Amino acid sequence: MRTLVFGATGNIGARVTERLIVRGQRPVVFVRDTKKAKALFGSRVDLRPGDLEQPVSLAPALDGIDEVFLVTDRPGLEEKDRAVALAAKAAGVRHVVKLSTLDVHSGIGTGPWHARGEAAVRDSGVAFTFVQPAGFMLNAFGWAQSIRERGVLRSSTGEGKIAFIHPDDIADVAVEALINRDHDGESLVITGPRALTYGEMAETIGRAIGKRVRFEALSDQQASAGVVRWAGKGPYADALVDIWRAVREGRLDTVTDGVQQVLGRRPITFDQWAEENADAFQ
Ligand SMILES: NC(=O)c1ccc[n+]([C@@H]2O[C@H](COP(=O)([O-])OP(=O)(O)OC[C@H]3O[C@@H](n4cnc5c(N)ncnc54)[C@H](OP(=O)(O)O)[C@@H]3O)[C@@H](O)[C@H]2O)c1
Repeated sequence: MRTLVFGATGNIGARVTERLIVRGQRPVVFVRDTKKAKALFGSRVDLRPGDLEQPVSLAPALDGIDEVFLVTDRPGLEEKDRAVALAAKAAGVRHVVKLSTLDVHSGIGTGPWHARGEAAVRDSGVAFTFVQPAGFMLNAFGWAQSIRERGVLRSSTGEGKIAFIHPDDIADVAVEALINRDHDGESLVITGPRALTYGEMAETIGRAIGKRVRFEALSDQQASAGVVRWAGKGPYADALVDIWRAVREGRLDTVTDGVQQVLGRRPITFDQWAEENADAFQ
């Protein structure tokens, strides 16, 4: 079995690649930065250099590939999904597992981009599975500097809740879909075990580092000014502010038993994630 992993130098793709290696595969990774990939995986993978912005790099990368793990990002991701799905179909790939989002169901934030991406994959005729996670626990790293320097988590999410999911759960579900093929044609909606307010997550991080972490509410305007400082103005920054508003309004507090259904075990808690990553916050 030869699996081509997109986004292999990113959060979820790297975990998927490592898991495939543990399962005895030699994954093929589609990367624009081969140095970064070599630093991560050494000689345990085959490198196929390419860039999703240059669709001509897809056909050679997909040659001889059975399965694809697909990660695309940012506005316009549906065009990348379409290009990969069509090239995969033409290359005789048997199955594409796309990292999508739970928000395709709410239409919030990046949901519409991924909904169009899913439609493009479906329309290509290739067999597919969509992994639809809630927000990532990893997003909490965005609070690290403020927690380290001022002991505060600032956000426009108010008292709203969200069931962030551990990246290992996402990767485990994706690998299960890739290897066992029991979920072809399905959308796997996966969340963490419990919806929490950002104030509760601040307390959890505080417990993990042995210091009090306060929650401070921001307005949408303040949150927008903050995100524009690192992401620039535009649809990506707008999507993030939309997501935080939807959390505040109680529109993103979905909890599913998707991880239990696919993996036969409970999803990992935010407490565990905070303990594993305490160093980043102190
Ligand atoms: N964060 C959340 O809460 C959340 C929730 C649900 C769904 N999602 C979805 O999860 C996905 C992001 O996953 P992630 O966090 O694992 O991603 P990530 O860590 O941001 O990594 C993105 C990966 O894509 C690669 N990449 C970017 N542009 C590329 C291009 N033009 N050609 C080839 N490779 C390219 C990057 O390569 P380089 O190393 O070269 O940059 C990197 O490996 C997005 O689709 C997002 O919408 C996120």
